[in-house]
Amino acid sequence: MWAIETKELTKIFRTLIGKAITAVDRLNLQVPTGCVFGFLGPNGAGKTTTLNLLLGNLRPTKGTAFLFGQPAGKPEVRRLVGYLPEKFQFHDFLTAEEFLDFHARLLGLAKKFRKERIDEVLDFVGLQHRRKSKLREFSRGMLQRIGIAQALLSEPKLVILDEPTSALDPLGRREVRDLIVQLKSKGVTVFLNSHLLSEVEMTCDAVAIINKGKLVFQGRLSDLLQMPTQLDIRVQNPSPQWQNIASSFGEIVSVNSDAFSVQLKDEKDVPDLIAALVKSGARLLSVVPKRLSLEDLFVKVVRNEQH
Ligand SMILES: Nc1ncnc2c1ncn2[C@@H]1O[C@H](COP(=O)(O)OP(=O)(O)OP(=O)(O)O)[C@@H](O)[C@H]1O
Ligand SMILES: [Mg+2]
Repeated sequence: MWAIETKELTKIFRTLIGKAITAVDRLNLQVPTGCVFGFLGPNGAGKTTTLNLLLGNLRPTKGTAFLFGQPAGKPEVRRLVGYLPEKFQFHDFLTAEEFLDFHARLLGLAKKFRKERIDEVLDFVGLQHRRKSKLREFSRGMLQRIGIAQALLSEPKLVILDEPTSALDPLGRREVRDLIVQLKSKGVTVFLNSHLLSEVEMTCDAVAIINKGKLVFQGRLSDLLQMPTQLDIRVQNPSPQWQNIASSFGEIVSVNSDAFSVQLKDEKDVPDLIAALVKSGARLLSVVPKRLSLEDLFVKVVRNEQH
């Protein structure tokens, strides 16, 4: 069963002058249970609209979203989901404990259960020792952690985080990243939305990329970033001869004074390429494989769409 599955999910907004804006366009997403999933796209791509459809805050124009096999928006389904919005409003005159108790009441948790649960989430985010501190004394990283604690109060099976680390320094990011990893190890599915692609690359098992409301890529990061291999090859006394040999294995993507890069169709060609170069007398100084980064991929798929 998928933690999140959308079928032809579509949201069309009507502006005041009656113009139709298709914010989400026949989106088919499949998020496996227990994974950390990155939901990416340029500004205005439809990410926040999709999150709101998943949370039941908006109704789809067409199509359906399912969470754990049930239609999104049903109250009993909403209860399975913890949510940390991008710009979370903190009542900063409250202490950490009071803040969590306020949110636990909103969830309708009974008093006895509230105390236990607040203890658990404070432990989880490592803020037990600051439970009596006012939120206005918290750093941004601590606020983000308390925000995550809030999202965990209902013991959700799915946590949706909108830009969880964008406002944080490297230390704060690492803390949030560690929390995400811990959530995953507890079997919680994490669906996050971020512009920090290196972060996403570090934390996510799989990603979807949308552009103009449409899905342009979906898949596991491990498969994806391994895929086409680029080799940066440095040779002594470079001559076009070596490039000619390399070009029969793939596309030459760049040439410098003492090096060139070739994009191979298949990783299995690496030994043959090196053998061919050596056999024809090339003295190799270095052969460095360059993996596609998530950023490379993002730029590639979004640009392709635009053309
Ligand atoms: N309530 C609304 N009424 C009309 N148009 C809207 C509404 N909400 C969003 N849109 C439009 O839908 C499109 C997608 O917006 P959305 O906020 O989902 O993008 P996003 O991917 O979250 O962008 P960002 O990365 O900038 O947060 C945009 O063109 C936006 O102007
Ligand atoms: Mg947004």
